[in-house]
Amino acid sequence: MRTSPAGNGHSFGNLVLAIALAVAGWNRFAAASRRHAETAVIRVMVPASERPFWRPIAERFARTHPGARVELVEGAESTDLREDLYTASLLARDPTFDLVYMDVTWTAKFAAAGWLRPLDRLFTAAECESLLPVALAAGRYSGRLYRIPVRTDVGVLYCRRDLLEAARLPAPQTMDQLFATAKRLQSPPSRWGFVWQGKQYEGLVCNYLELLSGCGGFWVDPETQEVGLDRPEARRALSFMVRCLAADGISPPGATTYQEEESRRLFQDGRAVFLRNWPYVWSLAQAGDSPVRDRIDVVPMVHEPGRRGWSTLGGWGLGLSSYSRHPGLAADLVRIVISLEGQRWLCARTGFAPARREAYRDPELLAANPFLVRIGALHQHALARPTIPRYDMASDILQRHLSAALTGGETVSGALAAAAQETRRVLGPRVPGR
Ligand code: GLC
Repeated sequence: MRTSPAGNGHSFGNLVLAIALAVAGWNRFAAASRRHAETAVIRVMVPASERPFWRPIAERFARTHPGARVELVEGAESTDLREDLYTASLLARDPTFDLVYMDVTWTAKFAAAGWLRPLDRLFTAAECESLLPVALAAGRYSGRLYRIPVRTDVGVLYCRRDLLEAARLPAPQTMDQLFATAKRLQSPPSRWGFVWQGKQYEGLVCNYLELLSGCGGFWVDPETQEVGLDRPEARRALSFMVRCLAADGISPPGATTYQEEESRRLFQDGRAVFLRNWPYVWSLAQAGDSPVRDRIDVVPMVHEPGRRGWSTLGGWGLGLSSYSRHPGLAADLVRIVISLEGQRWLCARTGFAPARREAYRDPELLAANPFLVRIGALHQHALARPTIPRYDMASDILQRHLSAALTGGETVSGALAAAAQETRRVLGPRVPGR
């Protein structure tokens, strides 16, 4: 959260200072009360690193909505922490946040709890059609729309093209090829073969799901509630991760503590051959001062022979709090974010992939980030995480057991058997018929 700037002390006596502070305090209080009377404030919490890119959006809103303004509250970077903060506020029916800046996986839980207003009537069919169908679909729950996507994410594998070319090796397609190529090109600890997000958090689930699907397996079928974690495919996917981390493997032991940024920095510093991450990395790794500029490539995530690579579908959108006192104004702010200009403000300098379809053909955005052309194509193989109201509990179970297997506390089969059993307990009986 932002704090207001503190005043500086100077050489007046304590009494004078106390009086001055009291007067200043009163003036601030009076100004705040006047503002309260005049101004509708639309509040949304965004990660601290994104706030600068939301500012032009807030300014446009203030210009086009006299008497109203946007307050961008800075939240933690991790999706799990921000979900906890929003959850605490919404559980208390607190009107502080008008809009909920939501991960793709929060829709079912927040909608089922009654914390979000349906948006079907607030947004026209044309407005919805202007957005990527796969991202829009992630905002539906029980036949209604609760989240408007503002940016999308797909998991990809970044490669050091220069190293592959020098060794005359192709980019890997299978998990075994990734292992063998990484092993050949690495020289740990100065350069590791493969870095990814192994910390116990949502990102670990995203990494695992790509391998799981690449082995032909599944986590939870949202239709039937069937759980696939104690099947051989699930064990093969996790065994691969464990193998990467082994003493004769290709990933640094610290990978079990990495989120996106830790792994991105290693790759960008030239200290890793392969990196699994989201599209934002491309713009940063291609920046003028990046040591790997013009030396990288992007390919789909690896898989088992005879199958194909999958990208976990990620991304962020806006939901409208049931407790907002200004739903109409909040919806207007969403409109600015998904307008072409809003998408440029949010995506051009961050490398985020837009949610608006037209943005993928926009000369201004393409000039800022030519990689967008390729991201657009990857959406076809995007893998949605299950839309279930108890998603956070299912994810928490999986995170815990994956992490235990990666750090040696559980065996692969023990971890997955326990995760499967606990998940079934949380989800309840299987729906028959499939
Ligand atoms: C990215 C994705 C989000 C995912 C998160 C995991 O922010 O957009 O969907 O849950 O990473 O760390």
